[in-house]
Amino acid sequence: MADPDLTSPAPAPLVVAIDGPAAAGKGTLALRIAAHYALPYLDTGLLYRAIGRLAAASGVDPDDAEATAAIARTLDTRALDDGSLRGREAGELASRVAVHPPVRAALEAFQRDFARSAKGAVLDGRDIGTVICPGADVKIFVTASPEVRARRRTDELVAKGREATYERILAEVRERDERDAGRATAPLRAAADAHLLDTSELDIETAFQAACELIDRFLARRSGV
Ligand code: DC
Repeated sequence: MADPDLTSPAPAPLVVAIDGPAAAGKGTLALRIAAHYALPYLDTGLLYRAIGRLAAASGVDPDDAEATAAIARTLDTRALDDGSLRGREAGELASRVAVHPPVRAALEAFQRDFARSAKGAVLDGRDIGTVICPGADVKIFVTASPEVRARRRTDELVAKGREATYERILAEVRERDERDAGRATAPLRAAADAHLLDTSELDIETAFQAACELIDRFLARRSGV
């Protein structure tokens, strides 16, 4: 008798787009969703962070659109594994290189290919639901007030033994929001069909449960349950 696993059709891919401002908790949420639904995960912020870092290391001005786009076009995605990319300095550089349309254009194909994997994928960023995967099955826009995000980020840094003052982090969060939401190309904004998830008053577990409910509802609808 044939192996039933080989004869049953593969499940349809599931693409989950998670967008939102810096430090809203979307990375943690996206990782948990990817693990729970056994999907590949791409933190798209790392692409911009790697370009910002490479620019700084090679003396390229992060505000130079063409020079940073040249770095983006030859980006080796193995560079994304560098843990230090998640730091504040790389985040600031990322936000600056991310305003350039040719930098964004150079990264589109990689992100779309990633989302087209056989199983689907979870991607998090700023423009996943609006530009990269406008046809995503489930879109979640994760927010929290700037004050809550700054408080969480400050506590995280202090817990790691780093120096951090709430006021300075709050100013950085606001500056990053302004740049990410105010740029002309692919600004940070929720897609019209995104579900808003405000984590200001939620812990990660509750936010994760809320996201799973949205995804499970979609899966049930798709399978006609
Ligand atoms: O998500 P993050 O903090 O790692 O992102 C760093 C910066 O990269 C963010 O301030 C703006 C930019 N970014 C973007 O413009 N588009 C994305 N899809 C992801 C990140």
